[in-house]
Amino acid sequence: MTQQNDPVLITGATSGIGLELLRLYHALGNQVIAHGRSETKLSKLCDQYSGVRSIKADLGDADAVDAMMAQVMADFPDLSLVINNAAIQNDGRMTDAEFSASNAKKEIAINFLAPVLICRAVIMHQIAKRRSRVRIVNVSSGLAFFPKTSSALYCASKAALHSFSQSLRYQLASADAAVAISEVFLPVVDTPMTSARNVRKMSAKLAALSIHDGIEAGQDEIYVGKARWIPLISRISPALMKSILRNG
Ligand SMILES: NC(=O)c1ccc[n+]([C@@H]2O[C@H](COP(=O)([O-])OP(=O)(O)OC[C@H]3O[C@@H](n4cnc5c(N)ncnc54)[C@H](OP(=O)(O)O)[C@@H]3O)[C@@H](O)[C@H]2O)c1
Repeated sequence: MTQQNDPVLITGATSGIGLELLRLYHALGNQVIAHGRSETKLSKLCDQYSGVRSIKADLGDADAVDAMMAQVMADFPDLSLVINNAAIQNDGRMTDAEFSASNAKKEIAINFLAPVLICRAVIMHQIAKRRSRVRIVNVSSGLAFFPKTSSALYCASKAALHSFSQSLRYQLASADAAVAISEVFLPVVDTPMTSARNVRKMSAKLAALSIHDGIEAGQDEIYVGKARWIPLISRISPALMKSILRNG
């Protein structure tokens, strides 16, 4: 359970679900460390929410992620919760003329490699310092299990994050590192990432609240909103689940 004042790092805290998580943890009295890539957005956040500390890094750059984590662990050695929330979603198909290897690399780096490096930094710090328990929350999607037609790399990066989170949980069970790994599976949420999508969406505020409740309950897998149906429907009829998300 997160105590008042406990430091909480939220990546991608400048927008959508990350911003709502920032608002929630700030209101609960936690020391929020807001990560973003834009100085302007971060300084606006710090002006708006007193006591929030900011850290800037482009998560597409592995060296910048390592430098960010070295800074965070030095400034907040008692970090108790890390929410790997930032991600991007490139639309389109592999056959599109605009397909670009550098965009593909960037998407994989932000959505998958950055959370991996953040997990590694927290675990190594935890092993060295032997502090009380830390929870890392990797924000994923129902698309990790059942991909859609478009955004193939986004879906694949979320599937990779899911696989990685499971392996890491196994490793940590025997490593005595006092690090817990949670994953969040979200439905479509109303944020800038989904602004072009004309479907029913959950509010980002409600999504943040459900994520918080799952964290407080110590859940390894936090299914939010309609995503709660995934485990049941995929057991009864994987084909139905596939067809629901295929054009999602
Ligand atoms: N929205 C949905 O329907 C939905 C569904 C399932 C899962 N999710 C997951 O939920 C999480 C939050 O998504 P969201 O919908 O809230 O997205 P969002 O509103 O687009 O916010 C994404 C955040 O990531 C940051 N970011 C993007 N590229 C970055 C980079 N290179 N370096 C550092 N930060 C970067 C953005 O910074 P800027 O503000 O500077 O752009 C922003 O703070 C993601 O992991 C997403 O995959 C969302």
